[in-house]
Amino acid sequence: MSEKQVVTFRVEDRIAWVNFARPEKRNAMSPTLNRRMMEVLDELEYRDDVGVLVLGGEGAAWSAGMDLKEYFRETEAQGLRGVRKSQRESYGWFRRLRWYQKPTIAMVNGWCFGGGFGPLFSCDLAICADEAKFGLSEINWGILPGGGVTKVVVDLLPMRDAMWLTLTGELIDGQQAAAMRLVNESVPLERLEARVREVAAILLQKNPVALKFAKDAVRRVGAMTYDEAEDYLVRMQEAANFHDPSEGRKEGIRQFIDEKSYKPGLGAYDQ
Ligand code: ACO
Repeated sequence: MSEKQVVTFRVEDRIAWVNFARPEKRNAMSPTLNRRMMEVLDELEYRDDVGVLVLGGEGAAWSAGMDLKEYFRETEAQGLRGVRKSQRESYGWFRRLRWYQKPTIAMVNGWCFGGGFGPLFSCDLAICADEAKFGLSEINWGILPGGGVTKVVVDLLPMRDAMWLTLTGELIDGQQAAAMRLVNESVPLERLEARVREVAAILLQKNPVALKFAKDAVRRVGAMTYDEAEDYLVRMQEAANFHDPSEGRKEGIRQFIDEKSYKPGLGAYDQ
């Protein structure tokens, strides 16, 4: 298989649909896939015709985690240099996605294991199928959830749930994942893409500069004191003003106060 086929993407109606595309390997993340994913993210990030990125999986899996043969065994055979290189490649695109210019939605159609929790967390929102199955299988083959995965579950979940998944390696389905708040919502698989389109449509109505600064703020302020966060948010809004050539916030106020053409409590202003 060529490097380019392990990730597929298309842009339609301002949504970039990016897919893990090794269905025959349950979309396990190999070094080849990790390198290609970084290229695809790079290609799409600043395109004017992309407003939202959706990360899905082809076939029965979202991602079966890191490729145990190509990511672990084969790189370990190359020694530390190989291991560190493959770690940089995977952590690199996870990080790129965490701080992506556009809002991102994980569309989890099936299996999501171990290292798959990295990109799951990187996506700003996550919608899954009731039929999806999530698991921290690391413990089943004798390791701890590394590569940031333990941090992901501790950040997203209460301690008992994080500990349960980590120590038992038991699977949970989509509805359990939603109840645990590992994802925003779970819907029947046949409704998954339609629901993701609806959520993307909500995001596409918003000011794109405000979306980028708001999503970064949500990720950043958790580690700050209240005073640090207050200060950071003032500065970030000022930076957002600088980066928004449309002066969206003034226009938003104008359409409400002067034009009375919309109500901010009920939806976005007309861009
Ligand atoms: N790494 C490498 N190869 C994989 C992986 C993986 N993570 N997951 C699946 N594959 C391969 C299988 O080896 C198999 O290859 P083959 O056709 O050449 O024999 C192919 O994908 C299909 O896998 P099956 O096991 O036959 O598919 P099935 O649908 O029966 O089971 C399941 C799917 C449950 C996902 C199973 O493949 C599995 O348990 N995979 C490993 C999941 C896992 O523990 N991932 C690692 C998490 S830890 C981490 O990411 C750090």
